[in-house]
Amino acid sequence: MILSGKQIADQILDEIQEKIQNGSRKRPPHLAVVLVGEHPASLSYIAMKQKACEKVGIESKLHHFQSTISQQELTEVIQKLNQDPKVDGILLQLPIPDHLSQEHFIELISPEKDVDGFHPINLGRLLAGETGGFIPCTPLGIYELLNRGQIVTKGAHVVILGRSRIVGMPLAVLLAQKQGANSTVTICHSASFNIKALAKEADILVAAMGKAEFVTADMVKEGAVVIDVGINRVEDPSKEKGYRLTGDVSFEAVSQKAKMITPVPGGVGPMTVALLMHNTWKAFEQQCAKH
Ligand SMILES: NC(=O)c1ccc[n+]([C@@H]2O[C@H](COP(=O)([O-])OP(=O)(O)OC[C@H]3O[C@@H](n4cnc5c(N)ncnc54)[C@H](OP(=O)(O)O)[C@@H]3O)[C@@H](O)[C@H]2O)c1
Repeated sequence: MILSGKQIADQILDEIQEKIQNGSRKRPPHLAVVLVGEHPASLSYIAMKQKACEKVGIESKLHHFQSTISQQELTEVIQKLNQDPKVDGILLQLPIPDHLSQEHFIELISPEKDVDGFHPINLGRLLAGETGGFIPCTPLGIYELLNRGQIVTKGAHVVILGRSRIVGMPLAVLLAQKQGANSTVTICHSASFNIKALAKEADILVAAMGKAEFVTADMVKEGAVVIDVGINRVEDPSKEKGYRLTGDVSFEAVSQKAKMITPVPGGVGPMTVALLMHNTWKAFEQQCAKH
């Protein structure tokens, strides 16, 4: 059975739209989107995020700079946005060019406006099980997908393939929390021994490696839930653009064995965008409550 992220994401967007419309605040939430360069995937992600903002009633402004912008110039941009009381959330679209320090900018964004949840303070809050901070959108989206998809997570063995700071690692921390998913979590990475056998033990298998169709049917337990985070461009001359998008899971074969599986596209991607809207709304509420 298909676990449609698109459907659940639409529900979440409707709920946020309603909260904004029925709220008593004097202004709409505001998300500042900062883009450096013309990375085609980044442009398309930003378009999706701004479209979602428009749908739910979040004001968004794109601050778009050439890839030659200096560290100092971009620092000043972020500092200004940090200080602007009308800006609730700041999204710096990653990756940024190599001459700019990603670490510096992640730590420069005020934790109160860090709607991506990448700041060490927010990651620390997640680790501590605090609810006031921001949780990275993709892990939070996967949590919501499991929750709203009525998948039992308590005690379930979740195997996560990938340990990045934006997906695998925070997802592992989130799903292991006692107050919440309460799962048993295994994290696999490029140095893991016998990844096939580990994957096959999963009640819930999450693939977040960025390796096209890596997960094959022989790696999946009969009746498992499979969450495919990967977004990979695979050359395909039969397509107009010359490529097609595929996940980290061999969808056709694995869907024969899995109880539930997320498609690519239409699975985790829309959930990430919906939870960005949630985080922005949360930042807005916190900001308004302060003033
Ligand atoms: N749907 C969405 O909204 C969304 C959001 C974010 C990312 N993504 C997609 O998710 C995928 C992962 O993104 P990311 O940013 O987490 O990637 P990343 O930073 O490149 O991390 C990839 C992780 O996978 C591990 N890995 C790579 N090859 C492996 C292998 N052969 N066996 C075992 N582990 C392996 C790496 O291990 P090491 O740590 O040992 O290097 C690393 O931990 C990408 O396709 C990305 O486009 C989708």
